[in-house]
Amino acid sequence: MTPDLDDLRAAVRASHFIAALTGAGISAESGIPTFRGPGGLWRSFRPEELATPEAFQRDPHLVWEWYNWRRGIIRRAEPNPGHRALASLERLKGDGFRLITQNIDGLHDSAGSRHVAKLHGDIWRVRCTGCGSVTRHEEVPLRSVPPLCACGALLRPDVVWFGEPLPELEWREAVDAGRRAQLFLLIGTSAVVYPAAGLVELARSGGARVAVINPEATPLDHLAEWALRGPAGEILPQIVD
Ligand code: OAD
Repeated sequence: MTPDLDDLRAAVRASHFIAALTGAGISAESGIPTFRGPGGLWRSFRPEELATPEAFQRDPHLVWEWYNWRRGIIRRAEPNPGHRALASLERLKGDGFRLITQNIDGLHDSAGSRHVAKLHGDIWRVRCTGCGSVTRHEEVPLRSVPPLCACGALLRPDVVWFGEPLPELEWREAVDAGRRAQLFLLIGTSAVVYPAAGLVELARSGGARVAVINPEATPLDHLAEWALRGPAGEILPQIVD
């Protein structure tokens, strides 16, 4: 174990409140493509055609086909040791830990994390564009595209698209966790999408020590005391013992 890892392990042990923000990178080792970087979804798809409310209004069929395809990939994926280490951390720390994710894949839940603030929604939920009801919806492949609500209106994925606000309750929880954190773990995110990335600055200004876990550099590494360059599935199990 390197001194850096030892040191971070000690900080994990000593901190009374830890917040972790995860991004697509934590699910990369489970076989789910990230958005940016080599093989990233935004290298082959245009977000403005698939992940905006205007795109959905223009072509709900196309948008749903894309989510249907992503559901297929996610359905086949299993949580990896990185997800499982964060679930263990929650078990160890109880209320002294808060997990915040930008991911919609549900793999933190499958790994056993009980309380996850999902800032960008959940691919396994739908929201009715008519009556507004939100329900779990795990059908894949979809029988009809786009799916319809019992009220007759179109269902949409209950995810956050570009130009939409984050869910209020989850965001409030995330801000509260950022403010309270003594240690903030930034895991598998390019940290370029706001407001989520702003949580690191918030935590840092409140005095949190910051650790970045990512094979690549991020624009927020300058705020970090630890920048551990490597896959989350290898590093997290070593710092959560
Ligand atoms: P990105 O695709 O922007 O970034 C993924 C990050 O994971 C990169 O910094 C990679 O270096 C890193 N990474 C890759 N493999 C990793 C591994 N094994 N372990 C740890 N890190 C690894 O994904 P996000 O930052 O999650 O939003 O993107 C943020 C938001 O932008 C997403 O929630 C999505 C997207 O557009 C919406 O769709 C609203």
